[in-house]
Amino acid sequence: MELRGFDEGITLDRFLLDTLRDHPGSSGDFVQLVQAIALAGKLISARVNRAGLAGLLGATGEVNVQGEFVQKLDRYADDTFIRALEHGGHTAMIVSEEAEDPVIVGPPWHSGRYVVTVDPLDGSSNIDCNATIGTIFGIFRRKSEEGTPAVLGDVLRTGRDLVAAGTIVYGSGTMLVLGTDAGVHGFTLDPSVGEFFLSHPHIRTPSARTYSCNEAYSDAWQAGLRSWLSDCKGSGWSSRYIGSLVADFHRNLLKGGLFVYPATAKASAGKLRLLYEAFPLAFLAEKAGGSATDGRAPILDRIPNSLHERVPLVIGSADAVAELTARMAADLPFGGPR
Ligand code: AHG
Ligand code: MN
Ligand code: MN
Repeated sequence: MELRGFDEGITLDRFLLDTLRDHPGSSGDFVQLVQAIALAGKLISARVNRAGLAGLLGATGEVNVQGEFVQKLDRYADDTFIRALEHGGHTAMIVSEEAEDPVIVGPPWHSGRYVVTVDPLDGSSNIDCNATIGTIFGIFRRKSEEGTPAVLGDVLRTGRDLVAAGTIVYGSGTMLVLGTDAGVHGFTLDPSVGEFFLSHPHIRTPSARTYSCNEAYSDAWQAGLRSWLSDCKGSGWSSRYIGSLVADFHRNLLKGGLFVYPATAKASAGKLRLLYEAFPLAFLAEKAGGSATDGRAPILDRIPNSLHERVPLVIGSADAVAELTARMAADLPFGGPR
């Protein structure tokens, strides 16, 4: 599809409708699904912007399935996303970070062809201090028969089955990034008119020597990673770490660099979750010319065994990811010589 510029005011809706022309015979369900996601993004963006005024900062007092304190905005974002997807009518099941079990969508909206995985609000530790946070989502076409309740097998499958994925970043502006077979495109919300406009067509991740990781934990990393980190210093690398995966990833997607959240001897699967954090971001990274690995194999080749499975993550510019994973493979796992 030919894309023109921001100047010409291509809205997300117009962009999505244009993609239908490239898929003759398409039912339009996918377009409506993305529209529902964009609606949730606008609602969440409005709340995030007003959170300090609306008494929405701080924790709810609950602890989620991950054992983490649920923030009020986590709850709002989760409820909003689920409501928008249910009412959109094309989602049969939603797997959210905030719920132990999947939401199996009931009648009258249950007959959707898609299942969605979502981290409704990533970067909770940054909510109360106005730093960037965001939503991460992945979309599979269901395997089970439409009209019947969706099943776990609809999401416990290889990441190569994803049909689309994206992020909505609530930063100095709100931006929706959508990855599909048509590539990765960014849409910036104009809050004055409530529309997402195409602002970043055909995103490709450049090569850059920037790393994003929580260096304070590096003593617990495997030897190959530690020696890589130490070699970065004084050799032209720069460091950027916000502590919101979605924001660190977004920065690197546009400007190049890599994000690392590795395994440690104590946490052999790392911290981040495969289905609704690593899978969608790996999909975006690959579609934008970058790559994503767990240190051994591409993230998208994995098949989750459970909904909230964790995974080590190295993601970003293809050359930097390849260089680091080679170092990880060559060195002893943990506690070996630096
Ligand atoms: P979430 O807010 O969805 O629970 O995710 C938080 C994650 C991720 O956003 C971030 O990269 C990571 O936690 C930060 O962890 P550290 O504080 O251990 O660096
Ligand atoms: Mn998260
Ligand atoms: Mn979250």
